[in-house]
Amino acid sequence: MLQTSTPAPGPIQGDLTTTKAPFIEQSLERGELFIHQPYEQYSDSNQETWRRLYAALEPKWRRFAHPRFLDGLDRLALNPERIPRLEEINQFLEPLSAFQSKPVSGYVPSYLFFDCLRRREFPTTITIRDGEALDYLPEPDIFHDLAGHVPMHTDRRFSDILVRFGEVARSASRKVQAVDDHSVQLRTMESIIKAMARFFWYTVEFGLMKHPEKDGLCVYGSGLLSSSDEIQHSLQSDQVQRYPFQLEWVVNQYFEIDHFQALLFYVDSFDHLFEQVDRLERWVLEGKLDNVNPGEPLVNQADLDSFLQAPIDS
Ligand SMILES: [Fe+2]
Repeated sequence: MLQTSTPAPGPIQGDLTTTKAPFIEQSLERGELFIHQPYEQYSDSNQETWRRLYAALEPKWRRFAHPRFLDGLDRLALNPERIPRLEEINQFLEPLSAFQSKPVSGYVPSYLFFDCLRRREFPTTITIRDGEALDYLPEPDIFHDLAGHVPMHTDRRFSDILVRFGEVARSASRKVQAVDDHSVQLRTMESIIKAMARFFWYTVEFGLMKHPEKDGLCVYGSGLLSSSDEIQHSLQSDQVQRYPFQLEWVVNQYFEIDHFQALLFYVDSFDHLFEQVDRLERWVLEGKLDNVNPGEPLVNQADLDSFLQAPIDS
């Protein structure tokens, strides 16, 4: 006799919700990091999440974001009504900075991430957060990556800063791969990756900058630009400490990702930030980052392997 059973509740077919997308699970099972954007799989609810996020952030961007970010929104012709297609975004980016958004299935080991930047490729998440919890971000999503990061990539100077990050990673990999003692190699590598992650966090992800046209600060960090609550909090709350960027502090300062940041750093300008990335590379080469303060972020084996096994002659 035939047995019938009620199918277990599972993700809706064609759902691209973060942590629930069958397409992503299948890509990960196949070991595919670089993927395509299966646009037809966005559900109505995914599109609605984009609309709600955009509507919540747009007025705040006008008040708090760096003017270059606002220019970027226009130059990319981001649509408030629907999730962007990466091919369209890339067509707009090509003549501006030659950056490309490259779809990925999930976490990118740190050397690979920085090396993508060196090649003017930005690893981009294609899933979108659950509409039930708009401010909860268990991992990056397409709103964070595309609306938070990519408008800044339209600025040639800013995109050059990202490329410099990639060059710093390559210098770090070369330096540490030349170390004979494996335990020293591991310890040094972990320390430098930690320092680079902290620098990236306090600038590209959560950076503030002196406003180029008026007194005060504005936001260029994508973690702030993709959070409807934290963007205003970062500039106006008296619970946030805002200090001029100091390299020796930043590389030794741990961070936590699961709450509003109580400590932020501001730079004077994009040129100032570029100089700091140059200094970061000098500090790598001079050994000043070989023993930074322990603590967050954790560096996993995949991050270490990605640096220690990177082809260093490319
Ligand atoms: Fe990010």
